[in-house]
Amino acid sequence: MPSDVRNVIKKFLALPADSIGKTILVAVALCLVASMVVSAVAVSMRPLQEVNALKDKQINILQVAGVYDPSKDIVESFSIFETHIVELKTGKFTDKFEVENFDDRIAAKDPKISVALKSDPAGIGRKTKYAKIYLLRDTAGKIDKVILPIHGYGLWSTLYGYIALEENGNDIFGLQFYEHAETPGLGAEVDNPRWKALWKGKKLVDADGMLQISVSKIKPSAGKQYHIDGLAGATLTTVGVNNLVRFWMGEAGFKPFLKNLETGTI
Ligand SMILES: Cc1cc2nc3c(=O)[nH]c(=O)nc-3n(C[C@H](O)[C@H](O)[C@H](O)COP(=O)(O)O)c2cc1C
Repeated sequence: MPSDVRNVIKKFLALPADSIGKTILVAVALCLVASMVVSAVAVSMRPLQEVNALKDKQINILQVAGVYDPSKDIVESFSIFETHIVELKTGKFTDKFEVENFDDRIAAKDPKISVALKSDPAGIGRKTKYAKIYLLRDTAGKIDKVILPIHGYGLWSTLYGYIALEENGNDIFGLQFYEHAETPGLGAEVDNPRWKALWKGKKLVDADGMLQISVSKIKPSAGKQYHIDGLAGATLTTVGVNNLVRFWMGEAGFKPFLKNLETGTI
C-alpha cells in the first residue's frame, strides 16, 4: 500500500469516535450492509412469492366458479379446470402457446401479441390478442362454467379479476377481483360478498345479442336482469367496473368466443 494512503488511513483512525468522518463512515457502512441483506432476502423470496401469487389466482378462480374448498389441496382442486388459450378476434382456441407458461398480464404488455387501444373505455392502454380461460365440465363432459379474465381501471388502480359464466356464455355465475388498490370501505367494497352476490343470475346480452349488462346507481331501461346496483360512495370505482366488464364482454373482448360457445363451435 502506498505510504500516503497509509497516512490518510492512520489519520482517519486517530480521529475521535464521534467525529463527523467516522460517523458518516459508520452510517454508509450500515446502509450498505442493510441494503445487501434486503436485496438478498428479496431475491431469495421471489420464487416463493411467485408460487403464492399463482396459488392466490387459483383460489380466486376456484371461488368465482363456486368450487373452492379450503380444506383441500389447491393444486389438486384446480386440476378440475380445463385451461385454454383463446384468440380474442376469432374466439377460437389456439395451441400457439404453452398454457402453463402463458400469462395474460405479460401478454398484454408484449408488443408482438398485444395491440394499443384507440378506444379504451377500460383504461388499460393495450389489449392482449390472446387470453387464458378456464372451463369446468360436468360429470357427463358437458361445459358447466367458463371463467374469463377481466381487468380495467377503477379510481386509483387497475382491478384484475375473473367473471364466471354459465354454459350458455350469457348468464353470470359470479365476479371476483384478485387484485386492486381501491379504498377500503369505498371502492374496495367490490370484494364485499353481499355486492358480489348481486351478480349471480344476471345476463350479459338480450335476445337480440345486444350487450346490456350494466353496473350503475341509476337503473337503466334494459331491465333488472342486466343490471347490478353500483357501490354506495364509490361511483368512480363503479364506473370503472361497468366499463371493464362491458369492454371484456363486448366485441373487442370475449364476445366472439361467447358466440362460439353458444353455437358449440369453440
Ligand atoms: C380518501 C378518499 C378515498 C376515496 N376512494 C374512493 C374509491 O376507492 N372509489 C370511489 O369510487 N370513490 C372514492 N372516493 C370518493 C370519490 O372521490 C367520490 O367522491 C365518489 O366516487 C362519489 O361517489 P358517490 O356519488 O357514490 O358518493 C374517495 C374519496 C376520498 C376522499
